[in-house]
Amino acid sequence: MSPGGVVLVLVPVFCCLLYGNCLPATLPGLDGTILGPETFKGVTNFSTFHLDRPSGTLFLGARDAILAVDTKNLNKQPKKIVWEVPEEKRTSCLAKGKTEEDCRNYIRLLEFLENGQLYVCGTYAFDPQCVFLEPSSFTLEKTKNGGVKMETGKGKCPFEPSQHYTAVMADGILYTAATSNFLGTVFDISRATGPEQERIRTEQSLSWLSDPKFVSSSFIKQPVDNNPTGDDDKIYFFFTETAKEYDLYTKVKVPRVARVCKSDVGGMKTLQRRWTTFLKAQLVCEDKPSGQRYNVLIDVFTTQHIPGDPSSTHFYGLFTSQWEPEDVSAVCVFSLSDISKVMDGPFKELKKSFENWNNPDPVPTPRPGQCLNNALKADGFESSLKLPDKVLTFVRDHPLMENSVTAAPLLVRKGIRYTKLAVNLKGSAEEQQAAVLHLGTDRGELHQVAVVGQNTTLLQEIPLFSSTEPVNNIILHQGRALVGSPLSVARVQTQGCALYPSCEVCARARGLGCVWSSEHKTCQLSEADPGPGDVIDNALKKCGAHERRCNPSTRDLKVFIGLRILLPCVQLSPRPCSWEYPLHRHTRQHNSDLEVTVTEDNLGRYVCTCQEGGPNVREPTPCLRAAYHLILEDPSVEGWVESTKGRHVLAVYILFFFMGLLLGACLFYFVYWRKRGAIPGLRRPDNSLSSEKGRELLGSTATPQSPSSASLLSDGFRLTEKRNGTTTSTTTTTLLSNHGNGGHHGNSYSGSLNNSNPSNGLYANCNTSSGELKLSSEILAANRLDGSMGVVVRPEG
Ligand SMILES: *[C@@H]1O[C@H](CO)[C@@H](O)[C@H](O)[C@H]1NC(C)=O
Ligand SMILES: *[C@@H]1O[C@H](CO)[C@@H](O)[C@H](O)[C@H]1NC(C)=O
Repeated sequence: MSPGGVVLVLVPVFCCLLYGNCLPATLPGLDGTILGPETFKGVTNFSTFHLDRPSGTLFLGARDAILAVDTKNLNKQPKKIVWEVPEEKRTSCLAKGKTEEDCRNYIRLLEFLENGQLYVCGTYAFDPQCVFLEPSSFTLEKTKNGGVKMETGKGKCPFEPSQHYTAVMADGILYTAATSNFLGTVFDISRATGPEQERIRTEQSLSWLSDPKFVSSSFIKQPVDNNPTGDDDKIYFFFTETAKEYDLYTKVKVPRVARVCKSDVGGMKTLQRRWTTFLKAQLVCEDKPSGQRYNVLIDVFTTQHIPGDPSSTHFYGLFTSQWEPEDVSAVCVFSLSDISKVMDGPFKELKKSFENWNNPDPVPTPRPGQCLNNALKADGFESSLKLPDKVLTFVRDHPLMENSVTAAPLLVRKGIRYTKLAVNLKGSAEEQQAAVLHLGTDRGELHQVAVVGQNTTLLQEIPLFSSTEPVNNIILHQGRALVGSPLSVARVQTQGCALYPSCEVCARARGLGCVWSSEHKTCQLSEADPGPGDVIDNALKKCGAHERRCNPSTRDLKVFIGLRILLPCVQLSPRPCSWEYPLHRHTRQHNSDLEVTVTEDNLGRYVCTCQEGGPNVREPTPCLRAAYHLILEDPSVEGWVESTKGRHVLAVYILFFFMGLLLGACLFYFVYWRKRGAIPGLRRPDNSLSSEKGRELLGSTATPQSPSSASLLSDGFRLTEKRNGTTTSTTTTTLLSNHGNGGHHGNSYSGSLNNSNPSNGLYANCNTSSGELKLSSEILAANRLDGSMGVVVRPEG
């Protein structure tokens, strides 16, 4: 078992307990700050973020509370409004068989109304309610008799705290996709506010919505000054549902986009108080050469490729797969124009009879599902109430389009579950446009990936929160990302070349316009054209580095017989990676990483080669991604005393001893958890390339915060071996391994880590300079040390 990880988690806790001085932690080099549970004082379960961009106030919807965080001054204590469920209400909720946990008020909706008030809706013990918040005074509006003014939240907010749900405000009117009954069995996309007679919804039919998991929604307004056809504004909804069009025994999930039009008010007789413009299409995120499909939508980020031009809107979809047993994440981008084309194309025939299959219903005029425009108005259809019955029955029976909106993945990552996505674009749409994807993981990390043309490059992996805190919100604002989990909020610098601390790291961002200045020793933005060819390689050459993008330097690893190690290899494309090594025994591939049990026969060179190729590249090219050389360590060097001459290692050991005593009780608890699901004998460190990969080896309860699970307590005596190993580690490794919590690693290992990226996340950072803390930073560095090697040290048996 590995208490090392436990110590890492507890260090921040300790420093708060000991010093009661829990200022927001900072992320050095990133201008970042983390507000954790100690700032929020018991308020938890944040689910909704709403940023008031002009004032920089971030509103957080939590359990029984609404918070306001001043993002311009994160040291200021957040403001709080408590909005709880009264006792009798909670009792009656419990009486209906719901749990104590669920019978509370989870704030799921925060949207500005046109009068400047914030509309706030919560689950309110399975009876959704909404209130009005006055942002200037940060108070809830009261009724005349002094109580809080409330109105029903049915159809505006889900009943259940964890239900999938999305809402969007369009010109002051709220559109939602939610469950609309207590049992959570009725699904609706509806216009939830505004005049009563215009509150229309979806038809209760499986062909409209079939067990949907709503993910995201977007309001796309037509440009006021450039709308010659007088086309209506539209609202798009993204969700995954169970396919009705396939007649299979298994439930096939399909990602969908659905569209409704803003001036739709329902039909007169048919489709009364129902959408007359509801159309949906299948999204396909598929790597054609490998035939891999990613069919479960996780998140969608909407952005305009030309700022101010709604027709340039693109939707970045984050997907996973129903079919893959292991975690996998993919990103595909869909353009609004592709979606419109599909919506203007043929309708799918859903009726199951044979005649219909061959002779689809003739499409009536005016075209069903079409948004109101000048031509329709000129023909006398100035409202959806005027549409003929045959048009409406056709829409009712044909909500699905025949064609799909297809895209190839920009990025595929195995062994990692991304939970949230946000995208920054660089450069103009006409020229080569570069995008930076900010991806939150289910383990509290933020990953940044550059997409330049066909090439995808991993820039950084930043641990922000404990690994039990999935990232559930990312908002980009003024060059920064506000990242949230159910318990914490972080602010991270996301723009500017200064983020990249060394020449090699900077080289990876060359496609984003960054250039290393050897004079100033900083990474700077440059107007200069990167020139032809492999821009990263060209930039690496200027660093004087020996390695190239597809020719990393070989890292020597000193090992001993019986050692189990995991050699990392990062792959961002769906194509496979393969390993070459001396002996094909005692190895196992986990995604693209290789697990090796060292024997006398399998020492030598290990090389990982991945097939590269962008979304439209049919013939992938091989790219060498990682190379290691396993060398036998003098087998007599086993005990920690002989091998650890360094006083720091000794200090770490002593610290562990005392911490070990202190934490005895906690350990038992953690050990218990780790046991569940862990593969015996295998330790998975925070591997340099991805601290998440290989998590399956540890079980889902592997060390929070630092995924570095290599046990320092039991394996502390191995540090020298690890250190020997790292002396050869290269910057590229550390570039990709921004984890390890070692925010401050000015310590004994800095010699071997002098190239390391200073932007490592530090969970909490007490402003004290006690002995414990100095030591703790050594632990962090030590942990980071073996983390950066991706080597797990443990004798067999
Ligand atoms: C609320 O947070 C607690 C603690 O993090 C968690 O155990 C619980 O599942 C959360 N509840 C919901 C409904 O998300
Ligand atoms: C992408 O990478 C390939 C090599 O794999 C290179 O030839 C090409 O120039 C790169 N493109 C950009 C825009 O960097």
